[in-house]
Amino acid sequence: MAQENASELRTRRPIIVGNWKMYKTPAQAQQFVTVFLPMVANHDRDEIVLCPSVTSLPAVIQCAAGSNVAIGAQNMHFADEGAVTGETSPLMLKAIGTTHVIVGHSERRLYFNETDEIVNQKLHAAIKHALTPILCIGENLEEREDGKTEEVLRRQAEKAFKGIVPETAGSFIVAYTPVWATGTGKTATPESAGVAHFFIRTEIARLLGRGTADRIRIIYAGSVKPDNVSTMLNQPEIDGVLVGGASLDPNSFAQIIKY
Ligand code: PGA
Repeated sequence: MAQENASELRTRRPIIVGNWKMYKTPAQAQQFVTVFLPMVANHDRDEIVLCPSVTSLPAVIQCAAGSNVAIGAQNMHFADEGAVTGETSPLMLKAIGTTHVIVGHSERRLYFNETDEIVNQKLHAAIKHALTPILCIGENLEEREDGKTEEVLRRQAEKAFKGIVPETAGSFIVAYTPVWATGTGKTATPESAGVAHFFIRTEIARLLGRGTADRIRIIYAGSVKPDNVSTMLNQPEIDGVLVGGASLDPNSFAQIIKY
């Protein structure tokens, strides 16, 4: 499909999210933003979000204030406060001007035993504090090879959205993050990602109604690079991308944004 056709078909504004994971000190983060902002100034076709590590959040938020780049956190606890050593609460994130938060990233699920139930609590907390959640769901390699992709996506979506009403869910962003394609250099083909996105949207429609499902943006994550981003975004079902490794360099992230 030609690019113009894909853009014409779009009813949802694409969103491009950079996930820096555990990289960059505050000084390095600030340096990135200083170089990066002029590169994407006036770019309004896509919404842009950067998710630095928690120690860099204040510097990056300050640096990006008034720009077209919003700042998100990579994780949070679901409680407002409490005796929970090492965690950051939504209240704290909100207080420094964070607007988005990644919830249930596969690395959190894998290394920190984040369950679907915890993910659900975090989504409720994000709503309570008016943070826009970027909910990650996706199958691992074994599940994919066993033909369980749809089963996994259905379970993760069903449990994540438990108790969430259509009125609030419309602003959510869902990232399809096939675990086997995260940080591995392997990418889902645009067609197979498109099929997964279509399945996720159908599930959301079943859970929350067609209107909400049509509003939610479903973005792709997994080894997105400047040279594969446009084929991904040419799929009408793919409403944006979540970029890890390739978002660490301002040139490469700006190239992705200008796909
Ligand atoms: P990647 O990471 O682009 O390095 O594969 C994506 C993500 O998991 O956020």
